[in-house]
Amino acid sequence: MPLAPDFVLKTRNLSMAFGGVKVFNNLDFELMRGECHAIIGPNGAGKTTFVAIITGLLSPTSGEVLLDGQDVTRHSVKQRVAEGIVRTFQINTLFDSLTPLESVVIAICQRDKVAKPSFRAIKHLHSQIDEAYTLLEKFGLADDANVATQLLPYGKQRVLEVVLAYALRPRVLLLDEPAAGLSTSQGRALFEQVVTLAQGTTVLFIEHDMNLVFSYATRVSVFAGGTVIANGTPDEIRAHAGVRDAYLGT
Ligand SMILES: Nc1ncnc2c1ncn2[C@@H]1O[C@H](COP(=O)(O)OP(=O)(O)O)[C@@H](O)[C@H]1O
Ligand SMILES: [Mg+2]
Repeated sequence: MPLAPDFVLKTRNLSMAFGGVKVFNNLDFELMRGECHAIIGPNGAGKTTFVAIITGLLSPTSGEVLLDGQDVTRHSVKQRVAEGIVRTFQINTLFDSLTPLESVVIAICQRDKVAKPSFRAIKHLHSQIDEAYTLLEKFGLADDANVATQLLPYGKQRVLEVVLAYALRPRVLLLDEPAAGLSTSQGRALFEQVVTLAQGTTVLFIEHDMNLVFSYATRVSVFAGGTVIANGTPDEIRAHAGVRDAYLGT
């Protein structure tokens, strides 16, 4: 008998409206443990809104978000990060003036609930420094570990954002257009790293570049017209007539 699917995250009857404008209605969505799941769909389909509801940035008009079966719909963003729902950090002015090594050490301390280190105390956190350095090495940032983040090229800053989220060992890693603003080859490199190195992590990402979606997603959901019009493997989605009509335009 096949094993029952193992869902990390589900939404039930999720509806969202801004004022009178409905974004989606009664949306049921399931994220399986370990998959790399892409959300695609036309502009305005509600992809970013959906991810904001998952992370707790927005409250749905009605419906539920379940994490490992637990209702987290009313949990704050901070609670959800602690529970393992993590989206990429946008590198802010604080992280900008730190080095990647310092930033990743801070993320690891947050994860392990080590008291927030003062900047001078960071150098004494040997195990966190070792782990941070290993992570940066894996993601190709070892040579940049001690450079001020603001001096790094844009592409490397985007990789660092993923490393910072990944350092928290999320149960669900959310990426909203991680390759936006990167060149084709930088985008590919970022996805290669996410997919090969984040193995075992469940990833949910929004991406417009269909080459990236069909190369790296293990499953795809298509948002359009206020609902999920299809979900399946990349091959199934490519072959789906409704998706082609509604979105892929082929
Ligand atoms: N804060 C907001 N207030 C009002 N309308 C919003 C807000 N955020 C998004 N919308 C509307 O919700 C719809 C879905 O937007 P969005 O989730 O950004 O779509 P996508 O990411 O798929 O392009 C759009 O019609 C958008 O104009
Ligand atoms: Mg969007």
